Amino acid sequence: MSPPIHHTFGPLANTRHMLSASGLILRPWRWRSGPATAALARGMETCMNAATSSPKPAVSLWGSGREALLVALRAIPAQPGDEVIVQGYTCVVVVNAIRAAGLLPVFVDIDPDTLNLDPAEVEMAVSPKTRAILCQHTFGIPGPLRELKEICDAHHILLIEDCAHILPDDARPSGIGKTGHMAFFSFGRDKAISGVTGGALIVREEAYRAAVQKQAEEAKPLPRSVILRLLCYPLLYVLLRPLYGLWIGRAMLALAGKTGVLVPILTRREKEGSMSPAVTTMPNACAHLALKQLHTIRTINDHRRMLTRFYLEEIDRREWRIASKPDDTAHPYIPGRITSDLPLQKFPLFVPGAERIRQQLKKQNIHLHDGWTGCVICPPAVDASALGYKDGQDPDAELCGTQILSLPTHPGMTHQQALKLIEAIEQHLNT
Ligand SMILES: Cc1ncc(COP(=O)(O)O)c(C=O)c1O
Repeated sequence: MSPPIHHTFGPLANTRHMLSASGLILRPWRWRSGPATAALARGMETCMNAATSSPKPAVSLWGSGREALLVALRAIPAQPGDEVIVQGYTCVVVVNAIRAAGLLPVFVDIDPDTLNLDPAEVEMAVSPKTRAILCQHTFGIPGPLRELKEICDAHHILLIEDCAHILPDDARPSGIGKTGHMAFFSFGRDKAISGVTGGALIVREEAYRAAVQKQAEEAKPLPRSVILRLLCYPLLYVLLRPLYGLWIGRAMLALAGKTGVLVPILTRREKEGSMSPAVTTMPNACAHLALKQLHTIRTINDHRRMLTRFYLEEIDRREWRIASKPDDTAHPYIPGRITSDLPLQKFPLFVPGAERIRQQLKKQNIHLHDGWTGCVICPPAVDASALGYKDGQDPDAELCGTQILSLPTHPGMTHQQALKLIEAIEQHLNT
């Protein structure tokens, strides 16, 4: 039985990660505090400081990326009801953080070539109440930073970069994480690197540092029982993932989820649109795991670049008739900004009938459901209208949710699996 092809079954959990987590389970005194948090903050500072002339950033670590965003938004001087511009086709936790900060999300459509905010639409959405624009770098595709920065400068608005899907390395100079007034990163389990949970906030403007520092002093540590469950995540996935094609593997992972051994990525309340106002510190144990991956970021990103290049070549070689924009014709579409030098978190391909193909692929032990399908505020269980999104408001974001078929690029995805996946999709496109 071959191992599953997947997005979400511990994509960054490998044997080394599992051994580190096992070692940490045996050292409970290192779960909450220890040297790893300071080392990770220094590592992120180096990563975000390299080759820039901008002022030295202040780095703080939080229990998750969504908490880092909440802290950033609460540091902005604003009145209740002030607005934050965010793209359609985003994650519910982003919208929840905006609302938890007492601000109003204003949804703006995406540019199908970048899956990021369309600057022309942003310009039209800016109002005297706009306090910040969130630039998402969806799946690691760089957002239109220059254009958004110009809009922000012209209107005295803050640019916050959502780098949850990307951690740039030194292979290619980029402004990602270095252009906005603030930027945040996620160390969640399926992000650029993983500490199972965690987030970093980078503040470049002196003016916001005190408000962030104050929140850091008030942040509470996660309960030890939660940290223990988080540390079980790499163990469970490394041991059970190869068995996913058999009922026993699926049943054991389902049991771990049902009994709460696995900490859910999203709680029921988060899916319903709320977020706790209390923020937490990043556990030292999670920082330890994330730091090990930060040390190998070039290797991880090179692997993602290799698969991005491979998918581009295979699609090209097959002469799939590619549409010039996503629409209802029967041709696949690739966002125009995807180039082979991008370390994508996942490779977005658009095909009509994407959901049908995903369902068919499951029978071949290929699992491409990642929560970013069939929704504008993801995952699909979220009621977007309850969060202020009006149906039809962002047509390109809606089409993206309907037609996307994302292909994995994570370090556990092999070249052979990528070829098998392309061949399987080809077969389904032809039927
Ligand atoms: C675009 C985006 N921003 C922010 C976040 C928040 O990251 P975290 O899961 O670490 O809270 C996520 C993921 O959940 C995301 O997909």
